[in-house]
Amino acid sequence: MCGIVGYVGDKQALEVVVDGLRRLEYRGYDSAGVSILGPDGLQVERKAGKLANLEKAITDRQGAEHDLRGTLGIGHTRWATHGPPTDGNAHPHVDCAGDVAVVHNGTIENFEVLVRDLEDRGHQRRSDTDTEVVAHLVEERYDGDLAATVRSICKDLEGSFVLVVSHKSEPDLVVAARRNLPLVIGLGDGENFVGSDVTAFIAHTRQARAVEQDQVVEVRRAGVTVTDLDGAVVEGESYHVDWDTAAAEKGGYEFFMLKEIEEQPAAIRETLGGRMQEDGLLHLDELSMSDEDIRDIEQVVIIACGSSYHSGLVGKYAIERWCRLPVQVEMASEFRYRDPVVGRSTLVIAISQSGETADTLEALRHARSQKARVLAVTNTVGSTVSRESDAVFYTRGGPEVAVASTKAVMAQLAAMYVVGLYLAQVRGTRDTDEVRAHLRDLLDMPDLVQEVLDRMDVVRELALTLKDEERVLFLGRHVGYPMALEGALKLKELAYIGAEGFPAGEIKHGPIALIEQGTPVVVIAPRHALQAKLVNNVQEVRARGARTIVIATDGDESITPYADDIIRIPDAKSLLTPLLTLVPMQVLSAEIARARGLDVDQPRNLAKSVTVE
Ligand code: F6R
Repeated sequence: MCGIVGYVGDKQALEVVVDGLRRLEYRGYDSAGVSILGPDGLQVERKAGKLANLEKAITDRQGAEHDLRGTLGIGHTRWATHGPPTDGNAHPHVDCAGDVAVVHNGTIENFEVLVRDLEDRGHQRRSDTDTEVVAHLVEERYDGDLAATVRSICKDLEGSFVLVVSHKSEPDLVVAARRNLPLVIGLGDGENFVGSDVTAFIAHTRQARAVEQDQVVEVRRAGVTVTDLDGAVVEGESYHVDWDTAAAEKGGYEFFMLKEIEEQPAAIRETLGGRMQEDGLLHLDELSMSDEDIRDIEQVVIIACGSSYHSGLVGKYAIERWCRLPVQVEMASEFRYRDPVVGRSTLVIAISQSGETADTLEALRHARSQKARVLAVTNTVGSTVSRESDAVFYTRGGPEVAVASTKAVMAQLAAMYVVGLYLAQVRGTRDTDEVRAHLRDLLDMPDLVQEVLDRMDVVRELALTLKDEERVLFLGRHVGYPMALEGALKLKELAYIGAEGFPAGEIKHGPIALIEQGTPVVVIAPRHALQAKLVNNVQEVRARGARTIVIATDGDESITPYADDIIRIPDAKSLLTPLLTLVPMQVLSAEIARARGLDVDQPRNLAKSVTVE
């Protein structure tokens, strides 16, 4: 939440910083701002609302007395916590003299005490934010060494933060600090960067270094120094980012989400790639667990939030079926607060696209404190979740920019199948021929997903007929149930339509009361063993006036008489059908949002990387 970028080099910083903010805007879009240090001193421009408002303000300012020229800059795109999203609360914040500029991601929990003390000492507070205290503290403590000043301030701050600070008297220095939230350094040639993630600087360099907990970074044109809070230099490894700017650009699509939906066959292919041996079995060194460790697992607990939680639910069906292990799937935000029973023989799988979700991080920290072994399933190399886990399985979906997750979920589903099959292979709960057969089925899935994508015109037309609805229900059984939850979540977050997902067998226990004449009910009904029961459930809702929209397998006519609208998907093994049923629901939600004139990539009130609990 909140995107941050800092630059010092030989280019005009304004362009670099605004370009970085454009790529980081998915992290928050309540306001945006920049501060540039140059011939006119430290200049700030900031505006409430989306980045476009800031860009307009920058254009309006051209030719003004104080311009935004200079080769050092910091920028921020905000997801509001303290104070409403106004111009005055937009970052950067400055001190009383206007010499210091600060951008901040996170929450300074002791800011009220700090504000009171600062006001007692005569500082003028101009915003409602917690961030502003840092600018005033720098003003008070600065004695010619900005990095030392920031280190000393960090020791007095409680909470989570990434801070990026510049000072009028230090034209070659950006200082950044991190606690609990992500910060990455971009290493260039004669120029260097910091950002909330690599997209902030991917257009300029693909060489990055992660910043660890309680470290302070001094970014200069000639190089970067990282220290701990006592000023001791910390050496670290840099890494190469193996995707380029094109992956984080719209490529002709109106919205990132539409592009990312189309990229799903590749997301599965990449996630499966290189994980199978020539003998057709799995090879997962990345789990860094011996076969004996794997055989000793007594239970699996999956922790995740939102769409990632839904991927976890599908993982439960797969792991229980193939490995005969008990699996619980927990919403990460609840996990640690109810004293969960986990220990040495528990494998905890933490699923997080961003690898930065605060709820998931806290849950995995709790699991590790109970001696459980934590496997991260994440899309983000070097993310906090990956660094704090015992092992990492990287999904290789590529960068996901749209706030609503699509291809990352698809890659997570593929990952859950792979992990499930690997556990079964090692534990011997499925014989090797069966594992090979399941893997072959999995390898067929990217083509089948492509086939579903090629048929989406019917869904686009359907979306136009649903755009004015106020409520839509989603029903599914077995692995269709998590997908019903996911379909409802997508529709809620993108189109702001009241949507709920239920296990189809559950509606008669209450939710059926929601059905009125014409209520749309999306039924996820690929062919499988529970088909007859699902057909009954569809009849039940239809008898009460529902308009049934059924996702059904090619050639399956059992449900056709009860479907008002039908979306066909190719046949596949029932456990793998979420990879197919997911697609029409994503397209449906995006197209309904588009038909309602909404911003598909940046739904209201949301941010992609949720770094507050
Ligand atoms: C919904 C969505 C969210 C995320 C959730 C977890 O479209 O994107 O529900 O799935 O915030 O995020 P990660 O996976 O980054 O931990």
